[in-house]
Amino acid sequence: MRFLGVLLGRRSRTVCGRAEMSQAGRNSPFSQAQDGKQIGVPRTGGYWHSDTSFETEPKVITMLMPKVLPQNFPRSTRFIDMAEVNAALPQATRDKLVGARFMHSGRWRYKVRPQNIGMDIFEILQMIDSVAPPVLHPAVIEHPYTGEKVLYANRGFTTGIAGWSLDASADLLSEIFDFAETDRFIREVRWSMADIIIWDNRFLAHSSGRNAGAEEETMMYRITLKDDYALCASQMGRRAVA
Ligand SMILES: [Fe+2]
Repeated sequence: MRFLGVLLGRRSRTVCGRAEMSQAGRNSPFSQAQDGKQIGVPRTGGYWHSDTSFETEPKVITMLMPKVLPQNFPRSTRFIDMAEVNAALPQATRDKLVGARFMHSGRWRYKVRPQNIGMDIFEILQMIDSVAPPVLHPAVIEHPYTGEKVLYANRGFTTGIAGWSLDASADLLSEIFDFAETDRFIREVRWSMADIIIWDNRFLAHSSGRNAGAEEETMMYRITLKDDYALCASQMGRRAVA
């Protein structure tokens, strides 16, 4: 597939990364290691998103590997190539996106934790925004390696358009996501043990969807990385290129 081929053969250096395990199907809202520390994020990623797009410098590479898969149901991850979507957008929509900047935030996808008990919703949102304030990225980025134009937006984390009213932002974003999240653009990968998938979050939005058998235990190892390139070509001056 193209999105895998984009990565093959390119030297990649880990600037920073983190690994986490995602678990589903547990009674407890959080799985706990024996020392009481959280080791995973249950029921995560079931919506369209690009990993860490809500960060100023998103971790653009994701590696995912299953550790435990459901016994009785296939487990899949779905992908949308946002360069393909951008190329297919109606011209009137593309015209609206010229020079536009999208706001990204994880505030609507925050997982409430035991330490949040007693906080009201307003306090939780204030806390989220203080730790991870919304960021702006170009609506359409130029991939710093391939030069392709990519619609950098996802329903999970893209929350508005800079300088637009809430209603106008919501209308255009809904139009874009309704256009993108269709069978025309969606590719599905069904997981097998020993699979490792590496992808470029600049190109790809992804979702684990609502897999059948979600009550069965699933555990995935995930590593997110930065590579030698900025999010988009226009930002290359912000980071050194090896
Ligand atoms: Fe993800």
